[in-house]
Amino acid sequence: MFLKRSAESITVHSPAKLNLFLELLAKRSDGFHELETIMTAIDVFDTLRFTATDDAQLTLSCQFAPGAVAAANRDEVDATLGDLPTGPTNLVYRAVELIRKEAGIERGAKIELTKRIPAASGLGGASSDAAAALVAADIVWKLGMSRSKLAELAAQLGSDIPFFLHTGLLGNGMAHCQGRGEIITPLPSMRRMHFVVIRPLGGLSTADVFRRCTIPASPLAARDLSASLQSGSIADIGQRIHNRLSEPSRELSPEIDRLTKSMVQAGAISSQMSGSGSACFALCHDARHARNVAAKLKSRRLGVVFTASNCGVQWN
Ligand code: C5P
Repeated sequence: MFLKRSAESITVHSPAKLNLFLELLAKRSDGFHELETIMTAIDVFDTLRFTATDDAQLTLSCQFAPGAVAAANRDEVDATLGDLPTGPTNLVYRAVELIRKEAGIERGAKIELTKRIPAASGLGGASSDAAAALVAADIVWKLGMSRSKLAELAAQLGSDIPFFLHTGLLGNGMAHCQGRGEIITPLPSMRRMHFVVIRPLGGLSTADVFRRCTIPASPLAARDLSASLQSGSIADIGQRIHNRLSEPSRELSPEIDRLTKSMVQAGAISSQMSGSGSACFALCHDARHARNVAAKLKSRRLGVVFTASNCGVQWN
C-alpha cells in the first residue's frame, strides 16, 4: 500500500491479487466453503482518495482510470470491467458505513475511487478497495482502531478483505489463507514472480461459481507450493499452481479453458484461473518473457491482457 496524506485526506493504492493455489475442503452450515488458498498481491492498483467533510454525508464516485490496463479497448470496457456501483451496494461504501457505525461517529467523507482492476474477475479489486477504505477511514477520522478490530470488520464485509488488510496493503504481499479465507498466515516469500493476466469479456459471480463447486474426495494441500515458493525452481512453482474453482467456472464460461490453453501455447510456464474467475494468469520466467507472452496474446483478442509482478510493502 502506498499512502499520500494531508491533514484531512489520504490516498491509498489498493493492489489486485492472484490465487496461486485454491483448494476446497468442506461446505459449512453457514453456506460458505472451508478452503485453503495462497494469495499474492500484484502491482496493478486501484486508487482510493478519502477526504473528511464537515457534514455527515458519505459520497462515493467511481471512474475507470484513463488509459488503465483494463480500459484498453473502449468498446469492450463495460463488458470487460463490469459495473461500478457508487451507492450502498459498493463494498467501499459499506466498509465506510460499517467502521463509522462501529466507532459511533457521525462524520462524513468524500471517497473518490479510480479503478484499474477489472471487476468480477477473481482479482480482488472490490475487496482490496474495501480494505483500503477501512484503513483510510481509521487514519483520517483518527479512530485508533486496533489491527484486530479492523480485521474483524474486514471479515464481516467479505472473505478476501482480511488478506488485503494484513498482507496486500500492510504486509509483505503473500499469505496462506484458511477458514473461508479470513484466517491469514503471512508467507515470508521474497521471490519476485512475473505474470500475464487476461480478463475475458464477461465476469463471473463468486456466489454462482461456489454454488456449482464440488468438494474433492482427496483435497490437495498447499504445503508443496509453499515450499516451492520458498526454495523451489520457477518450474516447480508452475507445476503446483492449482485452483479447484476452475472446474465450476469452466462450466459457466468456456472462455476459461480457451484462455489457459492460449497462455501455455503462447509460451508461458503454466496458467490458471484466479479466485472464482473470470481472469486467468500465466506464470513466466522473467519480466521480458511476460512481455513476450502478453504481446502474442494481445493479438488474439481474448480480452484485456496485462503483465504484473507480485508485490509487497518491503519492495515499494
Ligand atoms: O465473502 P464473499 O462476499 O467474498 O463471498 C461471496 C460469496 O461466495 C458468498 O456469498 C458465498 O456464496 C461464496 N463463498 C463461499 N465460500 C467462501 C467464500 C465465498 O461459499 N469461502
